[in-house]
Amino acid sequence: MNFSKIGILAIASLTVATVTQAGIKGAIVDESGNPVHNAAVTIRVLPNLVANARTLTNDKGAFNLNNAKKGQSIVVRKAGFLPETLSVVPGQKDYGNITLKRDPVENRIDSIMAKMTIDDMIAQMTQAKAPAVKCGNSICGSALEGGGAYTADFYTNAWKQKIPVIYGKDNVHGVADVNGATIFPHNIGLGATRDSALVRKIGQAVAEEMWAAHIDLNFAPAVTVPQDERWGRVYEGFSENTELVANLGAAFVRGQQGDHNDAEWRVITTLKHFIGDGATNKGYDRGNATMTNKVLHQKYLPPYEAAIEQGALSVMASFNQVNGIHQHVDSALLTGVLKTELAFDGYVIADWEGIESSTTPGAAGDYSPGLVTGISSKDAIKNSINAGLDMAMVPQSAEAFVSNMKELVASGAISEERVKDACRRILRAKIRAGRIDNPNGPTAYVGITKNIGSAEHRQLAREAVQKSLVILKNKKVLPLATTDKIFVTGSHANNTGLQCGAWTLGWQGTMEEVPGATSIQAGFDEVAKGARVATAEEAGTIVYVIGEVPYAEWFGDYRGNDFNNKIITKKARTDMSFNNTEEYIAQIKQWQKAGHKVAVVLITGRPLPITSLINAADAFVVAWLPGSEGAGVADVLFGKVRPTGKLPHTWPKDAKQIPINVGDGKKGLYPYGFGLTY
Ligand code: BGC
Ligand code: BGC
Repeated sequence: MNFSKIGILAIASLTVATVTQAGIKGAIVDESGNPVHNAAVTIRVLPNLVANARTLTNDKGAFNLNNAKKGQSIVVRKAGFLPETLSVVPGQKDYGNITLKRDPVENRIDSIMAKMTIDDMIAQMTQAKAPAVKCGNSICGSALEGGGAYTADFYTNAWKQKIPVIYGKDNVHGVADVNGATIFPHNIGLGATRDSALVRKIGQAVAEEMWAAHIDLNFAPAVTVPQDERWGRVYEGFSENTELVANLGAAFVRGQQGDHNDAEWRVITTLKHFIGDGATNKGYDRGNATMTNKVLHQKYLPPYEAAIEQGALSVMASFNQVNGIHQHVDSALLTGVLKTELAFDGYVIADWEGIESSTTPGAAGDYSPGLVTGISSKDAIKNSINAGLDMAMVPQSAEAFVSNMKELVASGAISEERVKDACRRILRAKIRAGRIDNPNGPTAYVGITKNIGSAEHRQLAREAVQKSLVILKNKKVLPLATTDKIFVTGSHANNTGLQCGAWTLGWQGTMEEVPGATSIQAGFDEVAKGARVATAEEAGTIVYVIGEVPYAEWFGDYRGNDFNNKIITKKARTDMSFNNTEEYIAQIKQWQKAGHKVAVVLITGRPLPITSLINAADAFVVAWLPGSEGAGVADVLFGKVRPTGKLPHTWPKDAKQIPINVGDGKKGLYPYGFGLTY
C-alpha cells in the first residue's frame, strides 16, 4: 500500500504534504474483504477536526471525493469499526482497498447482549426519573432529575446493577443543584474568554465534582450556535460564531472525558440540542428553524463534528423543528447526518418528554413549552425511535414508553434490529465511560466530597470570571484605585443567586444566597480592603451592578414587539417580565449630577439592545452570568488582572437589528470580538 498510516493520537503534530490532485478514490472493506457500505470518508487538514470535504461509501464500499485539493488526510469512520486515518500521497488518486478493523468493544457488547432479552434492551433505552431503577421488569438504562432535584444516594441502588443505571443531571456550569458546588460562568462567559485550555480544565473540574456527588452523566455541553438575542437560552451557548463553539465545545468534552475517553475521572457528556436550537425564527424556544442544507452543514454541524471526534458519547435531540420537521422525528438528520455522515456511534437521547412534545405544536408554532401530556404515545414513539432516537428521556412517562415499545416491537412497527442497535449504542457509551468495568466509579474521585467547591476549583472559576469580563466603555473610570472610595450597589451587587443565573439550585435559578458563593460586593472587600463605602454620598465612584434575573428555556424568550431598552425582571420564580431601563438611567444621571462617576456592571445572559443605558454610564462592563466566584469582577475592575474578555456575540445597536451576527454585514453597537483593556 502506498499511503502512509498515521497514528490517530499523533495527528496534532503531523505535517503532511499538500494534496494537489482532485478526485481521490478508493474502497473501504472489512477484515474479510467485504465492502463497507455507508462508511464516512472525510478529508481533513489536520489537526483541524472539521471536515474539508466528506462523502459516504456506496454499496460496493467505494468512495470518490472530488474536492480534495487542499486536503491532507483521509479519515474513515463507521460505527462498529476502529477509525482509520491515512495521509494522502501527492500524485496518487486511487487508494485501492482500505481495510477497516472491527472495534474490539463490539465483541464485549455482543457478549453482554447475548444474555439480554428484547425487554431488557427496551429498558436500556429508557431514562426514567430517579430514584426509579426498574423499567418494566428489567433494569433501566438511565434515570435523571431535572433542575432543582438531586438524589444523593441514587447510586447505591443504581450502580450495583449488572449494567449500571447512569444518573443524568444538567451540570451545565457545575453540579449546581448540589449545595456548596463551584458554579462556573455560564457558557456565554466562557466564550468571552476565548480560552480552550481553561474550558478543558473546567470540564475536568465539573467531572470531579460530579463524581463527588455520584453523578456520572452530564447533559452538557450545549454546542448551540445562538443567532437571536430574543432566545431565552442564548447564555447556554459559547458564541454566535461556529468556530469558537466548535473549539470550546470540543475542549469541554476533552476535559470531561479525556482524550478519547482515557481520563480516570471521565463521565458521559451530552452534546445538545441537535440541531438548530439557536436558529429558530424570532428566537422562539422550541420553534422552527429554516435553513438550507449548506447552512446546516457550515454553521450548525461543525461543533458536533469536532466534539464527536473528541469522543463525545451522547447527543440530545432538540425540541425545535428544522424546516418544519421536529428534531425528535427527523430521520434525515438523526440517522442520515449525525449517525451516518458524522459516523456518530454513541446514543441519541430525547429531551424532556420530547418524544411526546413532538406531536403538539403550540399556538405560536412552537412545540409545547412546558406542556407535558404525561404519556409517550405510540405514534410518537414509533416515529422517533425509527428516526434514530436511542434513549427516551421520559421522567413522566417511563411506564407508558416501555409498554408501548413492547407492543410496537411485537407488531413489527419497530424492528428488533433497531432496538438492538439502540442498546448497542448505549452499551458502547457505558463501556467507553468505564461504567461496566468500574461500576462504582473511579475510587480517586467518587464520593470525595472535598472536591465539591474546593479551593482549587473556585480559583479556576475565579480565573474564568476574570477572563470573561468584557469592557465595552471606559471614560477614565477604570481601573479603580484601591485608595478610592467606592460605593457598590444595585440589585445584583450582593445577591449570589442572581449572579449565577438559571440552572443553579433550581431549574429557573434562585434569587436567594448560593451557599459558598462570593458576591460581587464581597469580592470588593476581598480585593481592596477598606475601599468600599456604605453610601453614595461618601463615594467618588459608584459601581452599579444590575441586570437580568435568572431564567431558563422559554421563560427567557422575548416575544414582544419592542425589545429596545428592556431588561427581564421578576417577582416570583416564574413571574418574569421585560421592563424598561429608564429607572436605571434616571438613577445614574442623578448620581452624575451629584458629581459621582458611575461604572455599570451588567449581569446578563445575552447582549441587550440597551444603548441609552450604555450611553448614560461612564464605564460599562459586561460580566455575563459569572457564577459563584464574584471576586473575579473586582480583580479586573481594580486592574489586578488585565481585562482580556472579547464579545462572543455582536452587540446590537437596537432591537430592529436583531438577529445580528458576525459576517452578516450589519454594523452593531460593538462588533463581535470587541473588548477594551487597560
Ligand atoms: C432541556 C434540556 C435538559 C433537560 C433535562 C430540558 O427541558 O431542554 O436542556 O437537559 O430538560 O433537564
Ligand atoms: C425540570 C427541567 C426540565 C423542564 C422541562 C422542569 O420541571 O426541572 O429540568 O427541563 O421541566 O419542561
